[in-house]
Amino acid sequence: MRGYSEDVLSEVRAKSDIVEVISGYVALKQAGRTYKGLCPFHTEKTPSFVVSPEKQLFHCFGCGAGGDVFSFVMKAENVGFAEAVRILADRAGIAIEEGSQETREARERLRALYEANEAACEYFQRVLAESPEAENARAYLKRRGLVDEIVGKFRLGYALPSWDALLKALTKNKIPKEVLLEAGLVIPGKDPGSCYDRFRARLMFPICDSSGRVIGFGGRVLDDSVPKYLNSPETTLFKKGKNLYGLHLAKDGIRKESAAVIVEGYMDAIAAHQHGFGHVVASLGTALTEEQARTLRRYAPGVVIAYDADAAGATATVRGMEILAGAGLIVRVASLPAGEDPDATVRRGGAEALARVLADAKPLIDYKLHLAVSSCDRSTVEGRVNAAREAARVLATIESAVERSEYTRKVASELEIDPDALNKDVEAIVRAGGARAEQPGPGGRGGRPRAPARLGAPGAPGDRNAGSRHTKSEDDIARSGEMMKVLEAEKILLRLMAESREVQTTVLSEVGPDGFHDPRHREIARAMAEQTADAGTEGEEGPAAEPSKVIGALDDEETRRYAAGVFLGQAGEGQGDPVKAARDCLGVLREHGLRERIREIEQELASLGNTGEMERSRDLLAELWSLRARLSREFQPFSGTR
Ligand code: CTP
Ligand code: MN
Repeated sequence: MRGYSEDVLSEVRAKSDIVEVISGYVALKQAGRTYKGLCPFHTEKTPSFVVSPEKQLFHCFGCGAGGDVFSFVMKAENVGFAEAVRILADRAGIAIEEGSQETREARERLRALYEANEAACEYFQRVLAESPEAENARAYLKRRGLVDEIVGKFRLGYALPSWDALLKALTKNKIPKEVLLEAGLVIPGKDPGSCYDRFRARLMFPICDSSGRVIGFGGRVLDDSVPKYLNSPETTLFKKGKNLYGLHLAKDGIRKESAAVIVEGYMDAIAAHQHGFGHVVASLGTALTEEQARTLRRYAPGVVIAYDADAAGATATVRGMEILAGAGLIVRVASLPAGEDPDATVRRGGAEALARVLADAKPLIDYKLHLAVSSCDRSTVEGRVNAAREAARVLATIESAVERSEYTRKVASELEIDPDALNKDVEAIVRAGGARAEQPGPGGRGGRPRAPARLGAPGAPGDRNAGSRHTKSEDDIARSGEMMKVLEAEKILLRLMAESREVQTTVLSEVGPDGFHDPRHREIARAMAEQTADAGTEGEEGPAAEPSKVIGALDDEETRRYAAGVFLGQAGEGQGDPVKAARDCLGVLREHGLRERIREIEQELASLGNTGEMERSRDLLAELWSLRARLSREFQPFSGTR
């Protein structure tokens, strides 16, 4: 099933406790029988993300994300099902079948690359610590104020001024030359088969992935020569746009602060960490990518950009900030004193100075308005008109009308122009839809809770005659209310079935999976029936179905998400005795069935009219009267229905 045997999936599932796994991504707090935290998949200030250790499911009441431990990893790591299984298997130390020859070879090559990078890192570290030739590097670090502890934490090293020191050391350690070439640690020389060290006489900054494995290096000269930095080339392991420097050391800090700080340079990140800013990462000298944004989003809802002044204004950088905002991150921009980078700021004014800069960081929108306005000469009318035009474009990207008008007023007063006139320009752009389509504002995508799915909407499942007769009569409204009640009852039933085997047996024998009106409910009920049947127990005896296994058996991710919501939902909570609660729900379904049949008969009678089919009419009328009698005997009328 989906590439792995049922045994493997069961074992991986059994060894992957959902609370433990999710705790690696989200700070969870116990709240009764469940755990709560801030949803990693949308931006929120109060926790609506719930994890149930009993049911081994998660669900977000804000954005609707949900599912089992596999769904979580798929979403959090942005991978497919097979890769999610692999990640969890690795984590749990379970060996899973290796697949084809090709994938085995690819994995072996990856492993060799990791090994080469790790060996190189250890070698550079040892040289920095011990080699007499590294004296100048040690002195350099001291001059830059880095203490041994932080040098060790970031695993800084030194590459000797030699053409083959690394090559010799690592090949002696049985690392093949081909692997060193592929890792970019050595470069092919002129003579066929020869090669030489890429990094020479450089201070070495190992670059790690989020779990701390070395994937590449940056190397800095110790003087003013160029290039100042030399980086590993892109390899299978090392992809600049995928990683953030220092993330493996900053993860916990980012979670604690609910925000990451992004700086430009390796030195900036290291100096910040040394001064107690454990939530700082560096961007590896490239524009920020969506992948990096998604990565950060897994750890915290906020991000502060702390680039030096000129870099921050550059188009690529602003674009990067918008990518962060587009991923649902709340972006703020810090302004460093002119000519300073964060390293210089802490060197000058200590931790306090950097803390102040970070605390003063402005929301992205303020920053963009500032850029728009300050690019124009405000001493002339023409300049102010230009500034207003630029500002209007930015203002129009603000989604909230209240916020938009607040900012519009602020800009108008700053530019000393008529606020109503500026507002008109802004609203014209908004109506044209141009600005907003072009660039999603902060929190624009991703963060919005979805509208509740399909409940009682016209044409909802089971609403067989929707749209036929008349369009929106009182009847239809009453019926959509009825359908909502039915679908709610079905959800409660599914939950109760997972709680009590007795309920499951009753429901399946009374209505069966096909008696559910929502197709997703039918699928879930079927999966439940199969799961208990597979467990080899029949009737009312065995244990209730396990929600996580039921979900695992559903074919489509959307249904799995929905099912997690059903199993973890509040629907039916505190109903007391599950058997009695189920009886009430079954009553709702039965009543609906009666009403549907009555409506059918009424329709048929109306269509027969005076066609003279007296016999048929008489039968229908007889059935109708008996159904109506049963209805009023057994059920209270629905409110709002005749
Ligand atoms: N960078 C690079 N290649 C270069 C120059 C810079 O990859 N030739 C990247 C590095 O990641 C560097 C970052 O851009 O850390 C910022 O560059 P810069 O501000 O010049 O360096 P700092 O990190 O401030 O280093 P230092 O303070 O040692 O000068
Ligand atoms: Mn610097």
